[in-house]
Amino acid sequence: MKQLQHFFKDKTVQQVLDVGCGSGDFIKVLNDTFNGQVSITGVDPGEQWLKEARARFAQEHICFSCMSGETLAFEDASFDVVSLSNALHHLADLEQALNEMKRVVKPGGWIIINEVSDGDLTEAQENQKMLHHFKSFVDRLHGIPHRSTWTVDEILDIVRQNKLEIVDSFRHLKTKQVNFESYFLDEKSRQMESLLEELQGRPEYDQTKDQLPLFKERLEQHGFQSAPQLLVIARPKAR
Ligand SMILES: C[S@@+](CC[C@H](N)C(=O)[O-])C[C@H]1O[C@@H](n2cnc3c(N)ncnc32)[C@H](O)[C@@H]1O
Repeated sequence: MKQLQHFFKDKTVQQVLDVGCGSGDFIKVLNDTFNGQVSITGVDPGEQWLKEARARFAQEHICFSCMSGETLAFEDASFDVVSLSNALHHLADLEQALNEMKRVVKPGGWIIINEVSDGDLTEAQENQKMLHHFKSFVDRLHGIPHRSTWTVDEILDIVRQNKLEIVDSFRHLKTKQVNFESYFLDEKSRQMESLLEELQGRPEYDQTKDQLPLFKERLEQHGFQSAPQLLVIARPKAR
């Protein structure tokens, strides 16, 4: 990601922590940003994600550990950069996780929050939001923390409210093209369908079942594209 490379080009970074790393999409961004020259630790509470991540990044300078953002098992001031990508809206306790990230970052280090954003979406991006919000709704019914997405201003407010000083921020697209390929759109329909199936036998099934034909129609008309993400580079405010 060019903006990230530009920001860090004259900074000294050796140790990086990626919280909520999942299968490692943002680890790839970080590794490219620092040209494979820094040590990266990815943590996530989901063992199934870490298994994928470990298979994907076999390099010695990248390692993984199973843990939640709310309880980071690292000493104070251990990392030059601590990131959280597309996981802010998954956290059970957002304030505690951000406090932990502030605790483990070195004085003078940076915190990166990258987060999918709402607001000013194209119709194709609205389709991604529709599927994502349906998934978050079903997760919440199952008791899994998963909020709906926030606007750019809401994300910036969360960052500021948690005593982080914003140094830079920009919106970017994961995929530049709108996808109209039928196999891809069919897969998105199937994802919505299987989420709906999870609601069979619950009152929410009847309340939401009309979303599926509407989603299919919208996919055919507008295609599918990931909503823009907001990347914020911040520093803990002096205590
Ligand atoms: C949408 S994925 C993002 C993965 C990756 N960071 C990326 O940018 O593609 C959200 C991740 O947050 C993780 N997660 C959920 N609750 C978490 C928590 N309390 N602390 C840290 N990560 C959490 C999930 O396991 C999942 O891997």
